[in-house]
Amino acid sequence: MRVGVLASGSGSNLQALLDACRPPQPAEVALVACNVEGAGAVARAERARVATWHIADPADGDALLGALRAHGVELVVLAGYLKLVPATVVAAYDGRMLNIHPALLPSFGGKGMYGRRVHEAVLASGATVSGPTVHLVTAEYDRGPIVAQWPVPVLPHDTPETLRDRVLAMEHQLLPAVVLAAARAGRPLRLTADGTAFAVTAAPVVATMATGENG
Ligand code: GAR
Repeated sequence: MRVGVLASGSGSNLQALLDACRPPQPAEVALVACNVEGAGAVARAERARVATWHIADPADGDALLGALRAHGVELVVLAGYLKLVPATVVAAYDGRMLNIHPALLPSFGGKGMYGRRVHEAVLASGATVSGPTVHLVTAEYDRGPIVAQWPVPVLPHDTPETLRDRVLAMEHQLLPAVVLAAARAGRPLRLTADGTAFAVTAAPVVATMATGENG
């Protein structure tokens, strides 16, 4: 399965995917698209000899779709991509586009909730559990069906940075696990959250994914 990754930042989740999606696994990262010049994600892709594409205008859906199709991308993964994906691209990859978010959605999500702000909000709420969420991308920020979540404890003396690091370590396990599970599920791929559940890895991952007809 050819995976296209969209990123804006350091790309540590991209790195986890690059490390996990290698032969004999049934997935490979075919393209890394990034909207930030000089971002760590681009350097990681280049080191791994994966094609890169600069997103000059994040609102230009035709250009993005053209790049994804030119590289035969079957599954799109937003790994720290901080721009809204144009509706035409979301529609073209309906059920085949995943995002990772550093908190337990539906809480602590939505426009403007990324990076440090997410962990600050979790700490301010007094929540004792946080953790990454992988979900399908829809037209609204962080509102698509949840595919997998992994609980991570919030500790009494956590700062946004210590919590971020603990959640990020689990992101690096959860995201490749979901992508490889999707790739193993075969083609045509269309992930849905219709209640069909299977374990991506051992507990405590909770995943609801199913395959169905493409499109
Ligand atoms: C990750 O923590 C990811 O969950 C988050 O950005 C970080 C990117 O780190 N995404 C969001 O907040 C999206 N709302 P990375 O570039 O090292 O993978």
